[in-house]
Amino acid sequence: MTDVLDRPSTSPISTQRHGDVLIVTSNNPPVNALSAAVRQGLVAAIEQADADDAVKAVVIACEGQTFFAGADITEFGKPPVMPWLPMVVDAIENCSKPVVAAIHGTALGGGLEVALGCHYRVAVPDSKLGTPEVKLGLLPGAGGTQRLPRVAGVKKALEMCATGTPISAREAFDCGLVDRLIEGELVSHAVGYAEEVKDVRPLPKSSQRDDRLVEARGQPEIFDEFRKANAKKFRGFEAPDANIRAVQVALEKPYSEGVIEERKLFMELMSGTQARAQQYFFFAERKAAKIEGLPEDARPRDVHKVGLIGAGTMGGGIAMNFLSAGIPVTIIETSQEALDRGTGVMRKNYEASAARGKLTTEQVSKAMGMLTPTLDFAGLADCDMIIEAVFEEMEIKKDVFGRLDRIAKPGAILASNTSYLDIDEIAASTSRPEDVVGLHFFSPANIMKLLEVVRGAKTAPDVLLTAMSIAKKIRKVAVVAGVCHGFIGNRMLMPRQVQATQLLLEGASPKQVDRVHVEFGMPMGPFQMADLAGVDIGWHRDPNRVENVRDALCAIDRWGQKKGAGFYDYDDKRRPSPSPVVQQIIEDFAARQGVERREIPDQEIVERTLYTMVNEGAKILEEGMAQRPSDIDVVWVYGYGWPVYRGGPMFWADSEGLNTIVEGLKRQEQRLGSDFGFAQLLLDKAERGEKFTR
Ligand code: 3HC
Ligand code: NAI
Repeated sequence: MTDVLDRPSTSPISTQRHGDVLIVTSNNPPVNALSAAVRQGLVAAIEQADADDAVKAVVIACEGQTFFAGADITEFGKPPVMPWLPMVVDAIENCSKPVVAAIHGTALGGGLEVALGCHYRVAVPDSKLGTPEVKLGLLPGAGGTQRLPRVAGVKKALEMCATGTPISAREAFDCGLVDRLIEGELVSHAVGYAEEVKDVRPLPKSSQRDDRLVEARGQPEIFDEFRKANAKKFRGFEAPDANIRAVQVALEKPYSEGVIEERKLFMELMSGTQARAQQYFFFAERKAAKIEGLPEDARPRDVHKVGLIGAGTMGGGIAMNFLSAGIPVTIIETSQEALDRGTGVMRKNYEASAARGKLTTEQVSKAMGMLTPTLDFAGLADCDMIIEAVFEEMEIKKDVFGRLDRIAKPGAILASNTSYLDIDEIAASTSRPEDVVGLHFFSPANIMKLLEVVRGAKTAPDVLLTAMSIAKKIRKVAVVAGVCHGFIGNRMLMPRQVQATQLLLEGASPKQVDRVHVEFGMPMGPFQMADLAGVDIGWHRDPNRVENVRDALCAIDRWGQKKGAGFYDYDDKRRPSPSPVVQQIIEDFAARQGVERREIPDQEIVERTLYTMVNEGAKILEEGMAQRPSDIDVVWVYGYGWPVYRGGPMFWADSEGLNTIVEGLKRQEQRLGSDFGFAQLLLDKAERGEKFTR
């Protein structure tokens, strides 16, 4: 079948003739990113096709796990190497022979732009197509914002570009982005397709199409409606609006002007701080999966069945992750009532997802069908991994782990979901501390992406590795933490909480503190978060012992949203308003403690609540409780909603300048006459003009 084979040893692009079709193949692992060598190879291959009279059509395909997954992000910020991607896409579109993109895996970003440059696109049904540039703080910069609306329709392009969410091949077929779905061997079918279209002229060029624009011209309001519908999601981000504007230009201006506008917007974003932060975060997330210092021969253990102890708030949510990934779960409780309540909540959550169209009823039945609820502890004996999610009390946890030790099979991983407790102490209540690890999920556990994997002093390397690999399987982003009070995330919350509460006594209101955090980009402030999670979490439960504002609120039943009152009052729609009762409690405490009340500037709130977090992060690093600064950023973005356009607390500190952080903290120390306890690492780095993350 092959009559020409040409693969210069240095190029990731090779060409191969099959009859009169030239097959152009990229082999640039792991994701066929469009690096300079790939771009050069593609242009050369198109020139070859143009020059060779025997070639009647071209197929562009990729080896390995995926079609081109986009521009090579590691090249961003470096001097550009020709040809630019827009030139490559234009070269493909201007080829005198029909070019067919053969898509498998993911055609993303620049990869989709290459496919849009092709005259036809065929794809396997499980492939995905998307423009995720917005997640890197960018927009498709190789003509994508102008070609996509012309091929897939304006509305679809708007959604894809502004949200970055990829669509399935089926959806792509339905909207006209894919011309044919291929069952079976992709490349040979793509060659067959190329044979079918090789004589069709004129060549269908995405940039010259108008039909999909015409249908949208009657509805110019779609852009503002889209902005309004997504206002909450896009708050604070620059890139979504730039994407919307670029797609709108496609509708309003000819292609030749549209691409100039696209380039201008792309360059503006690329030189901005948000894009830098978001691109940093892309690699931070991937780095987090790597564990330092593991023996090379360590292999993850098999996990075919999972046990859950406790079907409360966390246990049920954690179980759902495994069920959704097709892993059977046995869940145990202390009473039938608690078991029924817990499994009932799980079912309700699944049904709510089905009602929103995210799952089919068959998927719900399948997931729930893999759940075995029981009151019999021995039911856990055949589980490969058992996760404890009972009350946060050391004695109860030790008792549970002691019992587990007696029944769990050899090699089973014994995990605790504790938020604060000492994993080593828990592990010591078993005869196999090497099998014990912390798996700290975040609430709601079926939704939140973060998983802190807590490495005990004796945790075996293969146990750690298993925890990381199972995290990927259940679609969590895992970060390794060391054993310390609150691990990475909750530990950094503590100085923030102390300062936030003290600020109330000094004259700030819960509303002011929360507003400063929301304006910074957090989804909510410390007091909104307390009201949501429960003001009573960790409360000593003695209403007569009132030592601080929180005790006072708990004593009068102001436990947060669940009681209709906390730091705020709530109406029946859970809308908050400032509470005069709380204000009085705060003022009484301030008077009793002799705290002078004053106007608090917003900047002081930033310095006392956010700079102190950075200082705590530095201590965590100093003590080796996080592997690297970027891991801390991953915890805060995925666990607490730190705005990704600020990179995470450590990246943000670097952007502020570590000297600025140290000076701010010293200024506040002086004002308060108290000692924050500086991390030496922070002082040293500030003094040397260094950064944490760059
Ligand atoms: N450039 C450079 N490296 C990339 C890359 C890219 N576009 N995409 C992924 N990689 C690297 C990762 O850093 C990782 O490296 P590592 O092994 O050293 O950590 C490796 O490829 C594998 O990546 P994942 O761990 O993410 O692999 P998965 O199989 O889980 O996911 C993927 C594959 C869905 C392709 C995912 O990697 C992804 O989403 N990549 C980014 C896609 C993207 O954002 N494309 C747009 C780029 S911007 C652009 O195209 C601009 C243009 O419009 C001009
Ligand atoms: P919860 O009170 O909602 O659930 C605990 C459940 O464990 C109860 O249903 C209880 O009946 C059951 N239980 C108690 N002892 C048991 C035993 N011996 N055997 C079997 N079941 C038993 O508590 P929640 O919130 O789910 O917390 C569980 C753990 O998760 C705690 O360690 C907590 O610190 C941690 N955690 C909680 C988070 C949250 O936001 N709620 C977040 C992250 C971790």
